[in-house]
Amino acid sequence: MELKGLILSGGKGTRLRPLTHTRAKQLIPIAGKPNLFYAVEDLQAAGIRDIGVILSPETGEEVRAALGDGGRFGVRFTYILQEAPLGIAHAVKTAQPFLGDSPFVLYLGDNLLSGGIQHLVAEYRQTRPEAIVLLCPVENPRAFGVVVLDGSGRVVRLLEKPAEPPSNLALVGVYLFGPAIHPIIHRLKPSARGEYEITEAIQGLVDEGLRVVAHQVRGWWKDTGKPEDLLDANRLALSSFVRRVEGELEEAEVVGEVVVEPGARIVRSTVRGPAYIGPGALVQDSFIGPYTSLGRGAVVRSSEVEYSILMDEAQVHALPYRLDSSILGQGVVVDGQGQTRRHTLQLVLGDRSRVRL
Ligand code: DAU
Repeated sequence: MELKGLILSGGKGTRLRPLTHTRAKQLIPIAGKPNLFYAVEDLQAAGIRDIGVILSPETGEEVRAALGDGGRFGVRFTYILQEAPLGIAHAVKTAQPFLGDSPFVLYLGDNLLSGGIQHLVAEYRQTRPEAIVLLCPVENPRAFGVVVLDGSGRVVRLLEKPAEPPSNLALVGVYLFGPAIHPIIHRLKPSARGEYEITEAIQGLVDEGLRVVAHQVRGWWKDTGKPEDLLDANRLALSSFVRRVEGELEEAEVVGEVVVEPGARIVRSTVRGPAYIGPGALVQDSFIGPYTSLGRGAVVRSSEVEYSILMDEAQVHALPYRLDSSILGQGVVVDGQGQTRRHTLQLVLGDRSRVRL
């Protein structure tokens, strides 16, 4: 039976406020592309065409408008409304009519993987275990699902956000499941934090003696749960950029792996890559440092910006500070009015904020 995909794009996004007051966290751009698109592209590259997308009532319309019917990705989307964010396992339960008895890849919409999932899907097709999970050693296992392996690398125990983690192996938010997960999910009780935990459902597979395979993730993995994770994901995604300059350069110095999209203009400025300059963006009398992404129509005038994400139409004018490690939401305007003192400034501003310094 063909594998299906299930992308989770519901949830609350409380850790990314104020950015998520006005948009779905899965739509925050990473290196010029909404986070969610990477999940779709990974599934598509692995040959999965039939993809369910879990939506929340709050951000569902926005996500649906961004993704469309799937045609532009070469896939077919089925949208599934989850009335309340009662947990990842609850989202899978909500999607059961769509999934049927098909094996499926569950992909959390705020996760990013550099290595893709083709090798996992190939392995699943050949060996048909009940689940494949991905693991990654982390410094803060308390923030994740954590897995304990035995001496032969077999999964013996899984715990969701344990206060005292028994290992540093975090569960990555990409899983492959056969249909045996569904009856287990039906029997789950809410956890201490009030959610139906996929981690507990996988423990259920292990307890029934079913085969759960664990692999360490290839390349890098990022859960973009917090602003600093978004900036780090932006850095990692930009690191694989290859230079492509299609916009206009006027007295500009564009160094290294920089993408300048059509309609963008770089005037009397330096852009040092890796960096992404979106369609129609303007950089004038400015410096754009490494690991910076400017969205569509963003403007940077007489300012220095480094290691930052400026979303569509965000503007920075005559800043007396170097803007560093910052995330400016859509349409934000930061106006320094040309004062001359130079320090570094760090900002995380939700869509359409206005700051005069
Ligand atoms: O990122 C990996 C981690 O993801 C794993 O290590 C954990 O075991 C797993 O529980 C999950 O933890 P998070 O706390 O990061 O999950 P979060 O609540 O952020 O939800 C992940 C994605 O799923 C996010 O894009 C929102 C979506 N979601 C979440 C819930 C709880 C839904 O669509 N519906 C939901 O009910």
